[in-house]
Amino acid sequence: MSIIRGKKIILGVTGGIAAYKSAEIIRLFKTAGANVRVIMTASAKEFIRPLTLQALSGNPVHHQLLDEKAELGMSHIELAKWGDFIIIAPASADFIASMAYGKADTLLGAVLLATNAKVAVCPAMNMSMWLHEATTSNIKKLTDRGVKIIGPDTGIQACGDNGPGRMSPPSEIVNEIIDCLQPHEMAGKKVVITAGPTQEWLDPVRYISNQSSGKMGYAIAQAAAEAGAEVTLISGPVNLVALPTIKLHSVTSAEEMLENACICSQNADIFISTAAVADYAPVKKIAEKIKSTEPEIVISLKKNKDIAKTIANTYPNIFTIGFAAETQDLNKYAKEKLKAKNLNAIIANDVSRNDIGFNSEDNEVVWIDKEDEKSFPKMNKNLLAKKLITLITAKVKTIVN
Ligand code: PMT
Repeated sequence: MSIIRGKKIILGVTGGIAAYKSAEIIRLFKTAGANVRVIMTASAKEFIRPLTLQALSGNPVHHQLLDEKAELGMSHIELAKWGDFIIIAPASADFIASMAYGKADTLLGAVLLATNAKVAVCPAMNMSMWLHEATTSNIKKLTDRGVKIIGPDTGIQACGDNGPGRMSPPSEIVNEIIDCLQPHEMAGKKVVITAGPTQEWLDPVRYISNQSSGKMGYAIAQAAAEAGAEVTLISGPVNLVALPTIKLHSVTSAEEMLENACICSQNADIFISTAAVADYAPVKKIAEKIKSTEPEIVISLKKNKDIAKTIANTYPNIFTIGFAAETQDLNKYAKEKLKAKNLNAIIANDVSRNDIGFNSEDNEVVWIDKEDEKSFPKMNKNLLAKKLITLITAKVKTIVN
């Protein structure tokens, strides 16, 4: 928790039954050595008394925008400059809406407009309000602006409904903030990632493709973005949603993926090829549906250009990493691909197993580069992605130094 020591945290409390949990958030931050100031909206004071939060934070609670005494002490501009991090917990549907529109009619709203600090919002509301499209679009506005959204949790609500809308537990909120404050190992790096399968169309209804859910590639994209990188994700057709901070290029064929990869890699530092690119495509796409009357048909296929190899050869300064999907002699074939594709590293992936590789939540891989081999045991793809990003950052640093 040492990262929190000495940090200046502003806790914004808005009106809602979860306001009582703000006391515990303050206690956790104070125990970890943070300096905490509280801003309450008028309706927050209906749920918890300012005196409680003042006693816990050790600082006067701020609540009035137009207050002569406050302007002489700590004005909204000074407050906005004071904080390293502003957390709104609980954040009501109403406050989220006014925040999305940049309203400054409360002290908290004015501070949020005037601050350069990182901002996190912990929504708490009835499940129907949370699921309403107005709230969804307000939340999107905030995430597009870089605001971190923590929660909400799903469960029994104060009104008796059961669903999403409960504020996340205070310990989870504090841990998420600690995570955000960790130094960003990939800050300043531009990372291009390919993910998912490609589809090579034969006629208007049939295509050739590969297995791949895109989970591994999306997990790596998310881990890189959370590590501070500027991430471009070139994705084949998948049922996944990328973080709003990731630049997503949706493609269908290997040819489109190649075209996008070449354009997006112009200023990139790192290229990670997780996509299961179809190796062959029909020589030509038939305009009308092929009739199924023939007992046998012959389809001519042509080899698709190798995207990872093209990027490695066109941009020798980019650190290029491929994945080798193998069903036997994993390390041997992976090493051959590392060399043939002129990559900096390759990640050997056994795709003969059902519990890892294609489609599953977990993966188990071996990192291979010219000097090193490192095994990653079976784990969730999100955790593996974080570990791979840490390793890639270290490898890139060694090359630069
Ligand atoms: O998407 P998931 O369901 O999460 O599954 C993850 C995964 C198993 C797809 C992934 O971890 C993986 O192994 N990806 C590589 C799949 C693959 O096509 O491997 P390959 O051995 O055929 O190709 C080697 C490398 O060359 C890969 O980095 C591939 O992206 C790249 N390649 C291949 C052909 C081609 N025309 N262009 C390429 O860039």
